[in-house]
Amino acid sequence: MPSVAWQDLHRQQQLLVETRISDLFKQDSARFKQFSLQFNDILLDFSKQRITTAVVETLCQLAKEAELKASMTALFNGQKVNYSEQRSVLHVALRDPGASPLMVDERNIKADVHSALEQIQGFTEIVRAGQRLGATGKTVTDILSLGIGGSDLGPSMVCEALHEYRSTDLNVHFVANIDGKTLASIFKKCDPETTLCIINSKTFTTPETLQNAKAVRTWFESVLGEKGAVQHLIGVTANPEEALRFGILKENIFAFWDFVGGRYSVWSSVGLPIALMIGMDEYKSFLLGAHQMDQHFISAPFAENMPVLLGLIGIWNSNFWHCSTQAIIPYDDGLRKFPDYLQQLEMESNGKRAAKENGFVSHTTAPVIWGGVGCNGQHAYMQLLHQGTQIIPVDFILSATGHLEFDEHHELLVASCLSQSKALMEGSKEDSLNQDPLRDAKYCAGDRPSCTIMYPKLTPTVLGSLIALYEHKVFVQGIVWGINSFDQWGVELGKKMVKEILPHLQGQPTDTQFDSSTQGLIDFFQKNRV
Ligand code: F6P
Repeated sequence: MPSVAWQDLHRQQQLLVETRISDLFKQDSARFKQFSLQFNDILLDFSKQRITTAVVETLCQLAKEAELKASMTALFNGQKVNYSEQRSVLHVALRDPGASPLMVDERNIKADVHSALEQIQGFTEIVRAGQRLGATGKTVTDILSLGIGGSDLGPSMVCEALHEYRSTDLNVHFVANIDGKTLASIFKKCDPETTLCIINSKTFTTPETLQNAKAVRTWFESVLGEKGAVQHLIGVTANPEEALRFGILKENIFAFWDFVGGRYSVWSSVGLPIALMIGMDEYKSFLLGAHQMDQHFISAPFAENMPVLLGLIGIWNSNFWHCSTQAIIPYDDGLRKFPDYLQQLEMESNGKRAAKENGFVSHTTAPVIWGGVGCNGQHAYMQLLHQGTQIIPVDFILSATGHLEFDEHHELLVASCLSQSKALMEGSKEDSLNQDPLRDAKYCAGDRPSCTIMYPKLTPTVLGSLIALYEHKVFVQGIVWGINSFDQWGVELGKKMVKEILPHLQGQPTDTQFDSSTQGLIDFFQKNRV
């Protein structure tokens, strides 16, 4: 990357090679104050990163040289920032309660967004009040949400995270994969007469979702007949024609639009299970939390801008310290699925090398995102973070408030989280191991960077802000790396190959010649299926 700031950051990296993060704390007792930021209820502590004031200034300069501000404005204004597909990217509009119009292709999309929200509200209130009856006149008790990728990860993660806010007897189930085991267990648990199935698919052509949808339709038909079954099917899609063809009734279709990317669709009608579970007031608080983060992102100066700083710190670690993975470790069981959610958000958005002006970028882009909840990880993968040969930056995420009945648990949970970030930074005290024959085995080098994000409680508003924080982080990185964060052409190749392989598994081989590995595996499957 030929930018002046980029060269300067390489120089600053060299200057810091001999400096430990813990030395930076010794040099400046106010380091936490200087390298932490609070917005609304969210605290971002990035003081345990290997950064100095000069590094932060240069990173901000890098963002300026990449014309980040102009790109942010383009995003919010509805310009076609998804340039390979010629689409606007307007998840921010989905959570904007303001009435001011936003024109895209001569259409005020804010009006569409608000009428979709009204549709969600009407449906949610009727179902939660027990007034939505199934084909045989029974009250709905279970919601089965089908979808994969962005059509599943958002709502399933949020429903788990906000389970404390559940204010209904409705049970919400999610099925994404086409391993029939999950669907079979749902069919055992639920009654077709009292279950509604929401089929979430932006394209309504995703084979996994359609395969599951057909199985659910057959399950309904076996008890309710064809006419009864359709009353239990709800479609959430940007392709209503295809949903109608599948047999969904027009009045059961919730629309969204091609300006909502799959991995950003939790803010659209794909969020319907969330509204059903927590009710409209809390659902609107969730949207509001994200909107507040949007406002902060678009207005705060880069040096005080939480998503901008989080994105730039990621670039500092990936491109200048060669960290190829990033761990996300929530000390909050509610956020158990958050690492999976961020995996799609970050890796599907920025796992690319095609440059804006054709050709390929020559620098590293998205790291591998992985993680899992603490304390569990301390007894599993944290060993590698402390003593392994790779440096893996961590985002620790935790709530100041725990479960009301388990205060002592929570103090131990928080102490564990803070201990991990401190231990990663400080490592072993060398003199304490000097005489130990197992010195090398026990020695932890420390000097491993982390951020900590803390909030008073995981409320709908906080969760909305937290998700938006990471969405904008990803956007910032995509702009600086010079890639399109909003397409996903890489996923298409696998989809195409499924179509070539499937007939061979179904006993209808075509003329396609496979490599010997793929053919060997097809043969083994055919011989060994029971
Ligand atoms: O995996 C590719 C992808 O297109 C994701 O971006 C998307 O979230 C997922 O598939 C599901 O797609 P759809 O909502 O169209 O079924």
